[in-house]
Parts: sequence; C-alpha cells; structure tokens
Amino acid sequence: MLAMPLKNRLGRVLGVIELINARDDQGRPRDGGFTDEDQALIEHFASIATVALERTHLTESIIMRMIRMAEVHDPSETTPHVERVSGYAAILFEEWARRRGLEGANLERQRDRLRIAAKLHDVGKVGVSDRVLKKPGLLDEHERSEIERHVLIGGDLFDDMPTDYDEAAREVALMHHERWDGTGYPGILEGGQQRGRRGEEIPVFARIVAICDVFDALSSVRCYKPAWPEERVLDQMRTERGRAFDPELIDILFDRLAELRAIRAASPEEPD
Ligand SMILES: [Fe+2]
Ligand SMILES: [Fe+2]
Repeated sequence: MLAMPLKNRLGRVLGVIELINARDDQGRPRDGGFTDEDQALIEHFASIATVALERTHLTESIIMRMIRMAEVHDPSETTPHVERVSGYAAILFEEWARRRGLEGANLERQRDRLRIAAKLHDVGKVGVSDRVLKKPGLLDEHERSEIERHVLIGGDLFDDMPTDYDEAAREVALMHHERWDGTGYPGILEGGQQRGRRGEEIPVFARIVAICDVFDALSSVRCYKPAWPEERVLDQMRTERGRAFDPELIDILFDRLAELRAIRAASPEEPD
C-alpha cells in the first residue's frame, strides 16, 4: 500500500491518496510492491490534487460569502433559504433530467451547476437600496421597479466570466422572475417592445429556481406575511401551474414532495 496525505501550504491535511496492490505492465501483482519512482510520481500527482481541492474550497467559501453579504442586506435571503432553494432545485432537476435520459457524470455536473446557481439567485439584491428591501407593507411602483432591478444586477455579476458555472448563475440570477405565461420580468426587447420571456424561452434552471424560490418564500415568514401552512402553499403552486410555472415541473414538485419536506426539516430557519 502507498498512502499519501494531501497537505496544503499550511500543513492542513485536506485528504489522503491511497494506492493498493501494485501491478506490473501486464497487470500481474508486482513483487516488492510500490517503488521510489512510484512514490515520486504520486507525490507530484498529490500536489496537483491538493491545489484542485483548495480551489474548490475557495470557490465554495467565496460563494457563501457572497450569499452572506446579500443576507446582511436583505434579511429574507437567509443562508437556510438559499440552501433549501438549492436542495429543492437539485431534486426537481434530477427528475426532469431523468425523464430526458440524462444520467451519470453528465447529470451530476449539470446538477452541481444548478445547485450553485440556485444559491446565488438573489445576490443582485446587494445593488438595491436598504430602505426598499426592508420596507414592510406595500411598495409603490417606483420601489417595485427598484427591487426588480436585482435580476439585472445579478445577471451582470456573472456576465463576463468564463466558466459554465458562471453561465448557469447568470441565467438563474437574470431569469428567476420570468413567468411561464410571459408576464414576468425582466423580459426581452422585441420589435421595439419589451415582453416577458415565455415557456421554454426561459432556461430550465431559471424555471426550476422560480418554483423553488416561491415555494420556500410562501412556506416561510417574510416581513410582509406570516409563514403559510403547507396546504395553502400547495394550492398556490397548483393555481400557478401553467401561469407562473412550467406545468411539468409543478407535476414533478408534487411527485417529489416528500423529499422537499425532508430538506425543509433538515434546514430550518435560524432562530433570531
Ligand atoms: Fe429574486
Ligand atoms: Fe429567494
């Protein structure tokens, strides 16, 4: 056996690589086990793997910090809320993708992209004024349009970045308030007229997050409403099937309700 810790520059162990049962070129068990040459090779590989792990940790912690920044500013976008939205979204996507024959590593990669993007759906709220965000009660037209700008600000945050994770985050941040029936925002300009994106013009990640965000907001306390009982939430989701929301995804939501409930139970709101 050859075991090697993956240590970062501070000496923290991030993981371990273990190789067992050395074999020769023909695949036969090799006398004497692993050699010094093997060890040098694995040391090199371990240093590359350590950098990759560190980058992943760093990306995750930067994302969580962005979310906490948005949370300081907007008390309704709490860490448990974004965790739940991300968890629900992964479940809806899995079923949607399974129905389309997507599986294995490809499915997992898409699901990971969505998980991250879902957590970032409202980070654009960092650009909306505090006074409007924290105002209890009804908003006037001007205040509402200021809040609606969070989708453009969020979309811009991920606009010029090169990875497909950024692309997913951009889609979701920009389009999670579009509606299946075309009456959402921000919409697109067509023939000099602004209109909402409709149906499958809205990318599936944004259609999924739209559902999960509303489902969770209705189930939770907001500064303008108490938490609704589940029955009322489900009634509302059913009413919006084919109006705000993709009908197939609403059917999936009802099919997978037990799993969504489990996520809700595992990630409750922090007591204040
Ligand atoms: Fe939003
Ligand atoms: Fe949200």
